[in-house]
Amino acid sequence: MKDKIDNIKKAALVEIAAAESAEGLEEVRVKYLGRKSELTEVLKGLKDMSVEEKKEIGQISNVVKNEIESALATKEMEMKAKKFAELDTKEKVDVTYPGEKPAAGHTHPLTKTRYEVEDIFSSMGFLVADGREVEDEFHNFDALNIPRNHPARDMWDTFWFTDGNLLRTHTSPMQVRFMEENKPPFRIIVPGRTFRFENADATHESNFHQVEGLMVDESGKLTVANFKSVMAEFMKGLFGKELEIRLRPSYFPFVEPGFEIDVACPYCGGKGCRICKQTGWIEILGAGMVNQKVFTSVGFEEGKYEGFAFGVGLERIAMIKTGVNDLRLFYGNDLRFLEQF
Ligand code: FA5
Repeated sequence: MKDKIDNIKKAALVEIAAAESAEGLEEVRVKYLGRKSELTEVLKGLKDMSVEEKKEIGQISNVVKNEIESALATKEMEMKAKKFAELDTKEKVDVTYPGEKPAAGHTHPLTKTRYEVEDIFSSMGFLVADGREVEDEFHNFDALNIPRNHPARDMWDTFWFTDGNLLRTHTSPMQVRFMEENKPPFRIIVPGRTFRFENADATHESNFHQVEGLMVDESGKLTVANFKSVMAEFMKGLFGKELEIRLRPSYFPFVEPGFEIDVACPYCGGKGCRICKQTGWIEILGAGMVNQKVFTSVGFEEGKYEGFAFGVGLERIAMIKTGVNDLRLFYGNDLRFLEQF
């Protein structure tokens, strides 16, 4: 019996050493330690042996069983180590290799321009306020001295809602809303989206942005000279270099007197081109001294306060700053265009 057990052990160790795969090794394990293995048969037969034999053969069988188990475990570890060593050479990872840069977005050029405008005016003590895009007729028109049926309403082609509300045609209604809540003195800017029912071209969109400005104090404290100096500071901060600008008289019902500011067309140097419609100038803002009728519409006493207001087109500024000659490109969402900024 002892020889038989010894032979089982020898044969098992030879087959374990010769096994070449995990499956082969499992077959050897089943063959020598499984329920139907020779060793199990020996152990099953112990019950028919004498007490001494039982003790001796039982002990030897257990030792052999342990030896086969540990030989199997050692072989399994060797196989795993070999496999990892192979993987290590086949699929080597170079941790010093530069990684792939994930595509990251950045701030839209119009947003960048808005931030710049906000920074310039903040540095002059202006507060940045926020306004609504859906307005009522009173704030967009009536309170700004543009009554119903007044021809001046034609200056703003309006998107109306069936309930009588509208998409604001300019940021000026915020002058009224702010003064309904706040008493002068104050200086604010209000950047925001505006809408007009118009044909798109290189300098016009039906969805665009304006930045409203409003500075008001007691009568006698603010004049056109203050307005001009704030504008000069604004232009210097915005364009860095000296760009020729002109202030020309204009009409808006909510200011008196009214102006428009044009910048010399940077595309043709003032000679006249498609972008400036052959005029040599690009209009960037409307402005003026606040009409007393606007003050009285918010309940202020006539003549008590004076101030100036302006509304600047953000796309026009962005065009001049970036050299983009068609504002529709800002809304095209073409990454090849946007990535340049
Ligand atoms: C106004 O909207 C007045 N609310 C501005 C104002 C405010 C005047 C305060 C006086 C006091 P205007 O329609 O001119 O004015 O527009 C102002 C600026 O918005 C223009 O100078 C231009 O830069 C820009 N703008 C106007 N229409 C468009 C458009 N369709 N697309 C892009 N920019 C536009």
